Amino acid sequence: MSTRFLERRATLVDLHPVAADMQRLVVEGLSRVPKQLPAWFLYDAEGSRLFEAICRQPEYRLTAIETALLRQEAAAIAAAMGPGVPIEFGAGSARKVSPLLEALAPPAYVALDISASHLAEACEALQSRHPALGVLGICCDYSQLQTLPAHPLLEGQRRLGFYPGSSLGNFDPPQARALLSQFARLLAPNGCLLIGIDQPRQVASLEAAYNDRAGFSAAFASNLLVRLNRDLNGSFDPGAFSYRARWQEPQGRIEMALVSQGRQRVAVAGQDWSFAAGEALITEYSYKYAPEAFTTLAAEAGWRAVGRWSDPDAHFSLHLLEPRP
Ligand code: AVI
Repeated sequence: MSTRFLERRATLVDLHPVAADMQRLVVEGLSRVPKQLPAWFLYDAEGSRLFEAICRQPEYRLTAIETALLRQEAAAIAAAMGPGVPIEFGAGSARKVSPLLEALAPPAYVALDISASHLAEACEALQSRHPALGVLGICCDYSQLQTLPAHPLLEGQRRLGFYPGSSLGNFDPPQARALLSQFARLLAPNGCLLIGIDQPRQVASLEAAYNDRAGFSAAFASNLLVRLNRDLNGSFDPGAFSYRARWQEPQGRIEMALVSQGRQRVAVAGQDWSFAAGEALITEYSYKYAPEAFTTLAAEAGWRAVGRWSDPDAHFSLHLLEPRP
């Protein structure tokens, strides 16, 4: 663990999540049938930038809907959450939290993210928009985090978890349940969790959201191969894979994959791997949950639903959860 004091007062605690695990996880993921890598590998600095661009595409309406909902309902949401320090899991650019910060007027804000450079930038920008706020960034894989590092900004404060963007959808249901249980531990004893969840809808609209015309979704997936080449001595030719996103009805999820255009062998993580023509490397899943299905999943992880805010077309919901007594 290392601590860095950023410009303008914000602090970054780096738990160095990437180096330790990446090699082992790549070997594990490429040994699977079908081949699949953890979704968080997508978020190096370039991947984080490409994801921000996806969020601005007209087909990917999730971010626009959630942002509008947060702006419109900030006062009601803040009143339902009560006082405390917002802790955002997977904060990215940390822009969505602003209406909540204005409505809650908390003493501090904590952002967790996997990309140290992106997190440092986000914390500095947030600090300049909210000069009086205590800002703490923690660079970590929040899905593996057992406890939050002790810090004066967290001392004696109620913890208000914030997990926007339907990021829970990138975990399969057993992992999602485990993550929700882990959030319950991290936010104990009296915290709450505000979580954004994308809902199933028309297949054409869902598939378009993950295959934007400008090509950012494809570039985001393909950047994974560039990252593997750079960080794990890989020999991938990104041009030899094409991007595919499709809705899988039985599982209620979008599957995103890079499909090998021919038979090929690739070296990465100290081993050789073969790909058949048409073989997929799954880069991520994005599960969608109707509100009732989500509250059932949350209940299995020790949470009860105490509030819900949705857009008029019922595409997306913000759920407020409290620990079950
Ligand atoms: C971060 N996460 C919720 C996005 C999603 O919608 O599943 C990731 C994404 N990948 C491609 N487009 C968006």
